Amino acid sequence: MIRTIATQPIAGQKPGTSGLRKKTPVFMGRHYLENFVQAIFDVVGAEGKTFVLGGDGRYFNDRAAQVILRMAAANGAARVIVGQGAVLSTPAASHLIRLNKTDGGIIMSASHNPGGPEEDFGVKFNMPNSGPAPEGVTEAMYQRTTEITEYRILEAQDVDLGTIGRSDLGGMVVDVVDPVADYADLMETLFDFPALRTLFAGGFRMRMDSMCAVTGPYAVEILENRLGAAPGTVTHATPLPDFGGMHPDPNPTWAHELMAEMMGEDAPDFGAASDGDGDRNMVVGRGIYVSPSDSLAVLAANAHLAPGYAQGLAGVARSMPTSAAADRVADALGIAKFETPTGWKFFGNLLDAGKATLCGEESFGTGSDHVREKDGLWAILLWLNILAVRKQSVAEILAEHWARYGRNYYSRHDFEAIATDKADAMMTALRASLPGLAGQAVEGMTIAAADDFAYTDPVDGSVSAKQGVRILFEDGSRIVMRLSGTGTEGATLRVYLERYSPGPDGLDHDPQEALAPVIRAAHSLAQLEAFTGRTAPDVVT
Ligand code: G6P
Ligand code: ZN
Repeated sequence: MIRTIATQPIAGQKPGTSGLRKKTPVFMGRHYLENFVQAIFDVVGAEGKTFVLGGDGRYFNDRAAQVILRMAAANGAARVIVGQGAVLSTPAASHLIRLNKTDGGIIMSASHNPGGPEEDFGVKFNMPNSGPAPEGVTEAMYQRTTEITEYRILEAQDVDLGTIGRSDLGGMVVDVVDPVADYADLMETLFDFPALRTLFAGGFRMRMDSMCAVTGPYAVEILENRLGAAPGTVTHATPLPDFGGMHPDPNPTWAHELMAEMMGEDAPDFGAASDGDGDRNMVVGRGIYVSPSDSLAVLAANAHLAPGYAQGLAGVARSMPTSAAADRVADALGIAKFETPTGWKFFGNLLDAGKATLCGEESFGTGSDHVREKDGLWAILLWLNILAVRKQSVAEILAEHWARYGRNYYSRHDFEAIATDKADAMMTALRASLPGLAGQAVEGMTIAAADDFAYTDPVDGSVSAKQGVRILFEDGSRIVMRLSGTGTEGATLRVYLERYSPGPDGLDHDPQEALAPVIRAAHSLAQLEAFTGRTAPDVVT
């Protein structure tokens, strides 16, 4: 029986960089999830359609899935493909949307944010192209939440999501599928699995930290079962609703166990970690951390070594705050390069149009045109494929890369949970100062240009303004500042720092030391301490 429930708009249902993210108790509040899901269906239409549904398994994932299924049925959807246990990694969900040519999908995740009764939850919609909904669509969903008066939901028992197979929910087909199998098969088409098996059989040692999040079963199946990595290669391999209390964000701060092992005496050859929903990755060599910007550049330069990319790349896209290291590779390869705002959704059109094959962001996201999300395990497997072919260590590959292209020293400093009004005041003042900055000298460097990044999509012509303040120096150094669009508590200020060293000397400094004058310039230009009271970042990547 379909029930129509009267409701009222709930303030604050505006999706951010990646869907609607809130504290779990907010999402569990009366009508909160229902209002947002109805807004999704009102905007994209559900009648007769097929959707994919899954999430990263965090607290409330299972309950939310039952609500979304009952609402999909009540809104006339024909079929929903659900990952067993309501679990799907974000890239696996994206793949299922493509594979089954569905009308899109709903992903339940707050990505790398902690999970649990007092932590974070999120919902986002992916389009039929399998990528995150673009701004025009999320804005329409938000508008809908501001005028909603009712939602539709089926009165029914819970669907058994623990058992693979087909069932009926009020006339809607529910297909519960193995969350791992199709994704693992896709990886086999892109990478040289026999060569990787030989690599592991030859004693190559790896550590994969799944951080008690969704990639555990995927990594065990692919790395240990299909590729023969030693049992136990994958740690924190069991997904838990609260991620075992871990902050499942693969960066040096939060993946500190992995970092300690990789910097330690008996470090394995290769280390990697992924985030809550499996779309981010961090890679680490023995004794050497690979910054995401460098990782993108190395992958771009070597992708042709993997079967899926043997024909070469159409182009490489990076988000604006990501370092220009990948640009140098694109120039050397004579292929197109693109600079987009932060947010994976901005890569979608470039991938759909065949303009870019590889995309990456400084925020530990790398991916390709195989899906329309960033993909943590994909990046890790591409690295493995490159290591297998080149038969060199990560450190050797990086050293050769920098010797050839020069090195873009890079770091991101995050200042978390700043009072929103203080962060806004700082950004407003900084933006106001931009017109007068060119020509000024700071820390012995002269400012060449300063602006607020605006992007015109080369495919559909849509314009996104105010995407981050850029201060460019004559020596090629750069400061970027913007406020995060994914936080749930106050404001997070991100300061992105970059300095180029052409080599051959000066390629092996510590990034924080190499960037010291750029860091000081950032603090003084933004009057960071005066506005926020902060002197040191909370997270350094
Ligand atoms: C998510 C998005 C990325 C984005 C990152 C950081 O992972 O998918 O595209 O780069 O968040 O976004 P933020 O707005 O917090 O800097
Ligand atoms: Zn994620």
